Amino acid sequence: MNLKNQVAIITGGNSGIGSSIVLELARLGANIVIDYVVNPAAEEELEKQIVALGDRALGVDADVSRVPDLQKLIDAAVEKFGRLDIMVNNAGIETRTSILDTNELHYEKVMAVNLKSAFFGTQIAARQMIKQGGGGRIINITSVHEDWPMPNNTAYCVSKGGMRMLTRTAGVELAKHNILVVAVGPGAVETPINLSTMKDPKLMEKLDATIPLGRMAKPDEIARVVGFLAGDGASYMTATTLFVDGGLMHQSPGL
Ligand SMILES: NC(=O)c1ccc[n+]([C@@H]2O[C@H](COP(=O)([O-])OP(=O)(O)OC[C@H]3O[C@@H](n4cnc5c(N)ncnc54)[C@H](O)[C@@H]3O)[C@@H](O)[C@H]2O)c1
Repeated sequence: MNLKNQVAIITGGNSGIGSSIVLELARLGANIVIDYVVNPAAEEELEKQIVALGDRALGVDADVSRVPDLQKLIDAAVEKFGRLDIMVNNAGIETRTSILDTNELHYEKVMAVNLKSAFFGTQIAARQMIKQGGGGRIINITSVHEDWPMPNNTAYCVSKGGMRMLTRTAGVELAKHNILVVAVGPGAVETPINLSTMKDPKLMEKLDATIPLGRMAKPDEIARVVGFLAGDGASYMTATTLFVDGGLMHQSPGL
C-alpha cells in the first residue's frame, strides 16, 4: 500500500485502461478521483467502482477537452481530499480516418481530448503540486503511436507524438519541483477503443501474429505499470516513456 494517503486523479477513468488504473491505484492505497464524461455503457462500471471504494473515491463529470472542466476536476480533488499527488492523463479518442479524409472537426476533437487535455491537465496539476509542496507524479497515457506511424489514424498519431514532447519538456521543466512526468505507451489493449478489431476474427489473427508476445494486453497489464510509476520504485524516472507493447515496436519482419 505504498500510495496510502496520496490522492490521484484518473481522466477517462470509467472505461478500459482508465478503469483498471483506478482499481490499481486504489489497491495501492490512494484516494481516487474518477473523471468521466457521460457514457451510458460505462455508467454501471463507474458506479460499482465508487461504491466499492466508499469514502476513498469521488466521481467528477468533467470534459477534459475544456480547460475550465480540468480546473473543476482538480479543485474537486483538493476540496474532497485536501491535495493532489498523482495526475493520470488517460482520456483519449481516435477517428481512424485517412489523412485525406480527416476534416477539421475530427482533427480538433482528437487534439483537444488527447493533447490539449494532457497539456493543461499537466499545467493545472503541477500548479497545485507546487502550491502544496512535496512534488508529485504526472503520468500521460500515450501509445506506441507517439513514435510509431499508424496509417489511417494520423490525427491520433500526431496527438500522441505531441504528448511525447509534452512529457519530455514538462519533465525537464518541472524537475526542480520534484514533479516527475512520465508516459506509458501501450501497444494493443483489449478495451472498447478496439471493439471493431476485436469483433473481427481475421483482423485479430493478423494483429496477434504481429505482436511478439502473440496477444493483445489486458487493461490491468497497463495499470500495473502505472502503479509502479506512481510509487517509490520510480523515484528517478522523469521525461521519458515506458512502452508496454508485448514487443510490438520491435517486431522482426522474419527475414
Ligand atoms: N486500447 C488500446 O489499444 C490503446 C493503445 C494505446 C494507447 N491507448 C490509450 O489509452 C487511453 C485509454 O483508452 P482505452 O483503450 O481505455 O479506451 P476507452 O475508449 O475505453 O477509454 C477512453 C476514455 O476516455 C474518455 N473520454 C473521451 N473523451 C473524453 C473527454 N472529453 N473528457 C473526459 N473523458 C473523455 C472516455 O469516456 C473513456 O473513459 C487513451 O488515451 C488511448 O489513446 C489505448
